[in-house]
Amino acid sequence: MSEQHNILIIGAGLAGLYTALTLAPRPVTVLSPMALGYGASSAWAQGGVAAAMDKKDTPEAHALDTINAGDGIVDADIAAFVTQAAKEHVLELAEVGTPFDRTPKGDFVMSKEAAHGFARVVRVKGDQAGAAIMKTLIEEVQNTPSITVIEGATALDFIVKDNAMQGVVVSENNTPPYVIQAKAYLLAAGGAGSLYLKTTNPPSVRGLALGMAARAGAVIADAEFVQFHPTAMDVGIDPNPLATEALRGEGAILFNKHGERYMLGVHPDAELAPRDIVARANFHQHQAGNVPVLDTREAIGAHIKDEFISVYRYCQQAGIDPVTETIPIVPAAHYHMGGVATDRNGRSSIKGLWVSGEAASTGLHGANRLASNGLLEALVYAATCAGGMMQTIEAGQGQEFVTDLVTPDLGYQGVNDAAVMELRTIMSDKVGVIRDGVGLAQALRDLHDLDVRFGGVSTNFDNMLVAATLIAAAAYNRHESRGGHYRTDYPEKDDKLKHRTEITYAQALALRDSL
Ligand code: SIN
Repeated sequence: MSEQHNILIIGAGLAGLYTALTLAPRPVTVLSPMALGYGASSAWAQGGVAAAMDKKDTPEAHALDTINAGDGIVDADIAAFVTQAAKEHVLELAEVGTPFDRTPKGDFVMSKEAAHGFARVVRVKGDQAGAAIMKTLIEEVQNTPSITVIEGATALDFIVKDNAMQGVVVSENNTPPYVIQAKAYLLAAGGAGSLYLKTTNPPSVRGLALGMAARAGAVIADAEFVQFHPTAMDVGIDPNPLATEALRGEGAILFNKHGERYMLGVHPDAELAPRDIVARANFHQHQAGNVPVLDTREAIGAHIKDEFISVYRYCQQAGIDPVTETIPIVPAAHYHMGGVATDRNGRSSIKGLWVSGEAASTGLHGANRLASNGLLEALVYAATCAGGMMQTIEAGQGQEFVTDLVTPDLGYQGVNDAAVMELRTIMSDKVGVIRDGVGLAQALRDLHDLDVRFGGVSTNFDNMLVAATLIAAAAYNRHESRGGHYRTDYPEKDDKLKHRTEITYAQALALRDSL
């Protein structure tokens, strides 16, 4: 038996909810693993949405910064498309009530973040953009009768035949699974940050979308590129609270226990160098026991209380007064540039499956995402996917409902916490900020061993293992350093490798099993 719906959206972060609203009044069903607003990275985003809103700024300049940050492998057409569409979506969010910060004249207040040539990040009360946008969208969703949200529902598995979607296996609050069929499916279930010990992502964001799509045969792109945020707080809290890059945009500086402002010797833009460069410098300082800290005292002072409410609240939780004290920091997994490969219209390699948000790899981010392009991409591709799904269904080309589906026998219980910690340790130690071939091969063997010991019990954990295996395999295969992927055995860029990569789970397994 299966339930039949028109459009099924898997995930209730920014990408999922914005798609659902774009599709209204057409009926859609949204799966939200937790209560709406909880468990989605979007709500934790502090920076905001990057868009050329200022008259002196242009989408072309924004696209160029995106391409430069992406370190040679951004798809220029996608960058042009997304940056052109940016302003329209910011205005749309403002229209539905997002309380963006404004100047006394009513213009948008814009933050400057690393590798942007212009202050072009629209924000809410300094660092509240993600939470405020999500609150606005949730209110809209709750007032839109065409949207059905199933809270507590987690997608475990795709049923695919002849490379076409037939259904999604869903478990509600760890109860026996059932199948939902739809005419079109959107996967918008987030990234993979919590596959690592240090992360700025919610615990539920741990490669589940990537793993599920890959097990169903989807092509995965750029899996090796994980972005580590340079300034997560190192205050003993898991996940690590984020100290937004906008603080450095306002002039906050980094130094170590020797009083050395080390970024001055690393890059001409010092603390505002591309994110991967600052992350590696901070990682080296941390590993060397030099205790890197972020100092907001002179640049921001007491304004931090009103202008960076989240950061101030986290500091208070950790017993730090950032007005008079520095903030210990460490790089932490923040964003996965890789994901399910999509075409210009957000379609995956599986018929009937669209993907948006961090779960997707559109080609916008290349090897290193430009700050605040994540929420932007989620908005633009949510709208693109909505249009594509609608047209497909209206043309009578949606997926057929099948009557003889068999629900696969899946493990639907919660994951084993000890196994998760082992997996996160493998990823942090061997597939982290600094990598090498020996460590990556060992990571693949260790993940295999985890699979032997814990695989097949919890499909959620299997999806995590698959995602981790794909990231490690793609990192093993890329014999160079570029953007967020740095290998000590191949420390330079290789022009022959100046391209995006694709991998399937079958290929990753073949590599794993050959080592
Ligand atoms: C930040 O606020 O530093 C993060 C913004 C982003 O990752 O886009």
